[in-house]
Amino acid sequence: MDYLEIEGGSPLCGEVRIQGSKNAALPILSAALQSPGVTVLENCPAITDAASMLEILEGYGCKTRREGNRLIIDAGEVHPGRAPKDCAGVMRSSIMLLGSLLGRMGEAFLPYPGGCVIGKRPIDLHLEALRQMGARLWEEPEGVRAVCRRAKGAQIRLPFPSVGATENVILLAVRAEGVTVLQNAAREPEIEELCRFLTGMGARIEGAGTGTIRIRGVRELHETEYRIMPDRIVAGTYMLLAAAAGGKVVLTEVPLGQLTAVRQVLKAMGARQESRGDSLFLWCPGRCRGGVRIRTAPYPGFPTDLQSPLMAALCLADGESVIDEQIFEARFKAAKELCRMGADIRIRGSKAFIKGTERLTGARVEAEELRGGAALCIAAAAAEGTSRILQYHYIARGYENIIRDLKALGVMVQCR
Ligand code: EPZ
Repeated sequence: MDYLEIEGGSPLCGEVRIQGSKNAALPILSAALQSPGVTVLENCPAITDAASMLEILEGYGCKTRREGNRLIIDAGEVHPGRAPKDCAGVMRSSIMLLGSLLGRMGEAFLPYPGGCVIGKRPIDLHLEALRQMGARLWEEPEGVRAVCRRAKGAQIRLPFPSVGATENVILLAVRAEGVTVLQNAAREPEIEELCRFLTGMGARIEGAGTGTIRIRGVRELHETEYRIMPDRIVAGTYMLLAAAAGGKVVLTEVPLGQLTAVRQVLKAMGARQESRGDSLFLWCPGRCRGGVRIRTAPYPGFPTDLQSPLMAALCLADGESVIDEQIFEARFKAAKELCRMGADIRIRGSKAFIKGTERLTGARVEAEELRGGAALCIAAAAAEGTSRILQYHYIARGYENIIRDLKALGVMVQCR
């Protein structure tokens, strides 16, 4: 099984362009199923989750082609089918097909979604919201069966601003009869991106990016082309890498406006940041400051997806910090691996207490999930000596080519 070998301890120096957004591309790929013809997506990251989603779309009759970062999806002749279990079961985003399949075909069978082991990842909010729009759903041993011949607009209020549930409601509501008003909707930038894409297909949506989204269903959607926005989590990962390893980096095509919470934490840690257009110049004169106390929260709060990368950077900061993970119940998996590199982290309930140390030492560590794996890359680049990061495939689910990017930033890394 492939592993990464990283020779750490040298300050960074280099430049990298931020890839297209995984968490924007995946719901948009689901939405492409509702086109009567061809969708062309530019800047779609070449990540394994996108490849899995394409395989699933082909299971419903779509024809797909990748030309570098351009994806062409022809949904002209789709049919009810079954998502290949080995694809749908490996990632969370397959559940986002439910709204699109019901919108396009009025019926669906989806294996239960898989994804990272960061928590139970229930789908109750998805199913309850779709039921309010007239969908009938059965949770069978192998997956969810759903029928909805003609969805009806509804007044829906989510108990929690779930990103995926918000996306599923939007994906069904765009073709429903009448108006759907979704309250306590997720406000993540990826929701706005999905709504921009659907509007380009002829959907009628107001309030994307706010807590209340209003969708007036239309009979038909049409073909469109779209360029996926940059990935704020990948950008944040490399910003925290620079804070941990030291040196100077330039990141281009950075969605700066989506990273306010992260930039505030980096500023508190002593990282210097200069932005010009969508480029960010970041460097850390000397060791970062600790004493950071953050709680992860729905957007625009500090993103849970950058919690592990931040933990890695705080392991070397000067002082004690506390991270309170409020979104997922099992998202501290990287902590024990970081401790194998000499980090001082104690977990108590939803809180991680990190006492910064002068140095970390390279070690053989194992990724167990996507963002925890990225955190291990950060620690390895900052540690003295050689690290081996096993189960690299988890990282490839969301980072298009972390080896290419780390090398571009001056990290000595090989895939073995
Ligand atoms: C999306 O997951 C992202 N994935 C996650 O990114 C991200 O961490 C998460 O949103 C929060 O921002 C994609 O967009 C593909 P949620 P999602 O529904 O939609 C609970 C990454 O690393 N919940 O907002 O699954 C759930 O258990 C991934 O790129 C229910 O209880 O997140 C969690 O505690 C990881 N019932 C909380 O809500 C439900 O029906 C947030 O989940 C749905 C969710």
